[in-house]
Amino acid sequence: MKLSLHNVCKSFDSHVVLDRVSLSLEKVHTLVLIGPSGGGKSTLLRIIAGLEFPNSGEVEINDDRVMFQEEALIKHRRTIGTVFQAFNLFPHLTALQNITLPLEKVHGHSRAEAEEIAHQFLVRFKLDKHSQKRPAELSGGQRQRVAIARAVSIKPRLLLFDEPTSALDPEMTAEVLDIIKELREEGRDFILVTHEMGFARQVADQVALLAEGRIVESGPVQQVLENPVSEQSRNFLAKVLKY
Ligand SMILES: Nc1ncnc2c1ncn2[C@@H]1O[C@H](COP(=O)(O)OP(=O)(O)OP(=O)(O)O)[C@@H](O)[C@H]1O
Ligand SMILES: [Mg+2]
Repeated sequence: MKLSLHNVCKSFDSHVVLDRVSLSLEKVHTLVLIGPSGGGKSTLLRIIAGLEFPNSGEVEINDDRVMFQEEALIKHRRTIGTVFQAFNLFPHLTALQNITLPLEKVHGHSRAEAEEIAHQFLVRFKLDKHSQKRPAELSGGQRQRVAIARAVSIKPRLLLFDEPTSALDPEMTAEVLDIIKELREEGRDFILVTHEMGFARQVADQVALLAEGRIVESGPVQQVLENPVSEQSRNFLAKVLKY
């Protein structure tokens, strides 16, 4: 993908959460966003997903400018697959229905087509035995795999992952990271927010470090993690890479 953010600003009341965020990436499959809590990572992802309006600034994906108007955003959101930390799934629907619902209601597939597509992903993510379970009957790792299946099944041009493993224990984290790595190897485009630095190193093409609403560092993964330029990123990385 080609991604361009130009002076994206966002405030909640008088609280500035994103302060002229700019980033221009010509050709990137995996952008990993890191940074301290409260730095604005989730807000930025939500703006890119078209779920939140910036106060000013521009977002372009593959030279396509995101128009922050309700009608245009409805279309835009259909092209983006999102997976968040937790509470992704509809609790009253089965794993299968969680995947088929958007395919039918938003993407215009027939019930049979939607079930066929969902089935392929359930098998691929080793969830076929669980297709009739509701989220409460699934493990955390299984839930996130269903959420990823749902996000990928709509054939998005861009996937957004916001700390998809932060609510999981290590074993389940590995199950989910394996899938994300597989998607990476398939050449899918995604932006991932994570605190898993080891994983970031494995999958990222580019890393951007967002702190206090500003991008304080960005570049190829090696450069950002090993030779950060700013004091702020050196401090942050020293903390997260310590253990
Ligand atoms: N809907 C909202 N209303 C008011 N303030 C908000 C809202 N969403 C986010 N904020 C504030 O914006 C700031 C940035 O939040 P954000 O969730 O983007 O940070 P983050 O980098 O994702 O943090 P974390 O690593 O903890 O997930 C925080 O101070 C948060 O309290
Ligand atoms: Mg967040």
